Amino acid sequence: MNMANTTLAEKFRSMEYGVAPEDSAPASAWLDQFQRRFGHFIGGAWYAPAQGGYFETLDPSTGDKIADIARGCAADVDAAVKAARAALPVWQALTPHARARFLYALARQVQRHSRRLSVLETIDNGKPIRESRDIDIPLVARHFYYHAGWAQLREQEFPGYQACGVVGQIIPWNFPLLMLAWKIAPALAAGNAVVLKPAEFTPLTALAFAELCMEVGLPPGVVNIVTGDGSTGEALVVHPDIDKIAFTGSTEVGRAIRRATADSHKKLSLELGGKSPFVVFEDADLDSAVEGLVDGIWLNQGQVCCAGSRLLMQESIATQLTRKLQARMTTLRVGPPLDKTTDIGAIVARVQLERIEGLVARGVSEGASCWQPDIPLPSRGLYYKPTLFTNVHPTSVLAQQEIFGPVLAAMTFRTPAEAVELANNTAYGLAASVWSESVNVALQVASAIKAGVVWVNSTNLFDAATGFGGYRESGFGREGGREGLREYLEPAWFRKAPSLGRGTAAGAEAEAGAGDAHPGDEPPIDRTVKLYIGGKQVRPDSGYSIQCRSSKGVLLGEVPLGNRKDIRNAVEAAGKAQKWASATAHNRAQVLYYWAENLSQRAQELVARLAAVVGRRQASRELKLSVERLFAYAAWADKYEGVVHSPPYRNVSLAMNEPIGTVGVVCPESTPLLGFLSLVLPLVTAGNCVVAVPSVAYPLIAGDLYQVLETSDMPGGVINMVTGKPMELMKVLAEHDDVDALWCYGNEALCATAKRLSAGNLKQVWTNEGRQIDFFNERYGAGRWYLDHACQVKNVWVPYGE
Ligand code: NAI
Repeated sequence: MNMANTTLAEKFRSMEYGVAPEDSAPASAWLDQFQRRFGHFIGGAWYAPAQGGYFETLDPSTGDKIADIARGCAADVDAAVKAARAALPVWQALTPHARARFLYALARQVQRHSRRLSVLETIDNGKPIRESRDIDIPLVARHFYYHAGWAQLREQEFPGYQACGVVGQIIPWNFPLLMLAWKIAPALAAGNAVVLKPAEFTPLTALAFAELCMEVGLPPGVVNIVTGDGSTGEALVVHPDIDKIAFTGSTEVGRAIRRATADSHKKLSLELGGKSPFVVFEDADLDSAVEGLVDGIWLNQGQVCCAGSRLLMQESIATQLTRKLQARMTTLRVGPPLDKTTDIGAIVARVQLERIEGLVARGVSEGASCWQPDIPLPSRGLYYKPTLFTNVHPTSVLAQQEIFGPVLAAMTFRTPAEAVELANNTAYGLAASVWSESVNVALQVASAIKAGVVWVNSTNLFDAATGFGGYRESGFGREGGREGLREYLEPAWFRKAPSLGRGTAAGAEAEAGAGDAHPGDEPPIDRTVKLYIGGKQVRPDSGYSIQCRSSKGVLLGEVPLGNRKDIRNAVEAAGKAQKWASATAHNRAQVLYYWAENLSQRAQELVARLAAVVGRRQASRELKLSVERLFAYAAWADKYEGVVHSPPYRNVSLAMNEPIGTVGVVCPESTPLLGFLSLVLPLVTAGNCVVAVPSVAYPLIAGDLYQVLETSDMPGGVINMVTGKPMELMKVLAEHDDVDALWCYGNEALCATAKRLSAGNLKQVWTNEGRQIDFFNERYGAGRWYLDHACQVKNVWVPYGE
């Protein structure tokens, strides 16, 4: 069509409009100021790389070189960590208000330079300028504003918590500056100093941000930027003077980082891949759903961790929706990212383009039907057409693997239950989008999908106040919201707790008190307990048992030597009991109160038996505090609630505390009753089912516990107990793919092994870090800190208005 001779109405109908390029001259001038060569930003100044030299960062839309970037080596990382460590006391000595002012100043500065930052982002990454200008950079500013608020309020809102210290942060290339903001803003607000490594394909905006830090006069060393590739990231991960690692990127690297940090006390948060379902019911507004898909899978060329890459359509509307979608796809404009009329820009790098092509080819070879619109692609640069696959089998590579490109895999379902099953049929659990005009169906499905974020009749909405992060192999920890700030804080007492050392048969207090056991308290020798699985007392698979002796060496009884098979059975039983998660909070509280009642009725005999191992004084205290703890968690059951956020859109987001699922628990040795309850109770209060390994010093406690449980209306399978050797049983739990989280109390070696072995399905792990926790002190042994770990926050975005 000849654009010059067409009328406005014709142009409107055809949507064939001319190019509208963004001016890149100011960004180029900025790059020229640095002679297009960037060092590391360490201790508030620029440094040439120690030995790694430079690598090129390219414009993926042309292949042209933009600048030379320092390649960080271990020495560079070490210099940056030292600078951060030195800056920490300076940063922490400031008042909360002073820190808030710096974060506020950074937000202002981002807004002031927003056009330059948008252009730099677009030329480095290939994303359309429309997106970097209207989505990425405004969200960056919003993140710093929001966290300026947390800097101000942190000490009031998190009393007793302290910053982790020096934080290592590694980010990907898909939202370079936004991911930087998601990492740096909460870290600084909490009072940490950071060393951040941007992705090798997209370092420019992080370097531009370093300059903003200088402009606002941020104390040198509070923010350090070291550029480089995966090896630079690895050097940061293994650096001994780092207190926390925050990572966003591929699941594979996340897994490697889990293993690499297992032997340290580094706190860890991982935001990994996804294969998010986009579920469309027959009563949905289909035109809106199609627009949602444009945002869901073609935003940023589909290189989005929460991209709605699996389209699940109700069978009755599948043909109609597919047609509408194809029609819309033919109007998408793939072109130069700096053109304001471009919908789909360039793929970030050749290797990524090849990865997409490879996965698409595999999908075709598996028999799925591939459809692409007949639209032009620029002759130069790395582009890929929007792609729709139909006839996709749920096990296909297209349905299971993160493609990270503009490729949508469509499948059909008949009923809401089938939709949920399909939606949950991947290892991931990052996000989901649900389309239905029925509020009942939409919210029911939103609650059943295992994902950290669910958008109802919307997609890809983000806000700093609403946490973001995954379930299952999409990682753990949240970014944004109160829960995001928690990732950068630790209870001060926990950091200072003494080491357990190599572990003792019973704790110091137990040894001290053991002398005052009454000989008459000791039970008959032949007391034998069983395993407790699925609400039943069962014999162990091995047929072996282990002896349990008093502190004076008297044989008290025998417990089964549980093995791999017993753990597997217990995990299966826990899996079948998951409806506990949907029991009402009131109902869970009632069960806990009833449990307390029954425990106190058996107090005398239980104390008498426990006293033989831990001494009468400790046994009485354990019993008394156990009843108290049951009351405390019964109280929490209907008070540890979610919140409703009001993001700056016509939406509310419901932050719901959801249970994690099946949790393995290795209980403390020295407090057989109180330690067991201190770990198991927060988990079951939150709706999890547990497989617990009771204290190895007094495993007979299992017998006492299940007798009480049996009379307390606790549904079978919610609490399972397998006695045996902690290290052996813990390993089975850590490696079991149906165990969703692991809580492990023990010495350094046990905790490190728990973390390392849990990398397989990336289960969340809580440990005592080999430190001693005083469970007799309510401040340390109970409350929110445990409940926070027992839940994962799911944010459901619900729109309102016409
Ligand atoms: P990646 O996970 O390798 O890179 C992410 C960041 O981690 C980069 O800064 C990189 O330099 C760093 N890194 C790499 N290896 C490391 C190591 N061993 N230790 C510490 N840091 C390390 O992701 P990549 O190779 O760029 O992309 C590969 C695939 O990963 C993509 O096709 C996509 O499927 C997925 N991905 C997912 C992202 C998400 O947000 N979920 C983001 C980026 C990639």
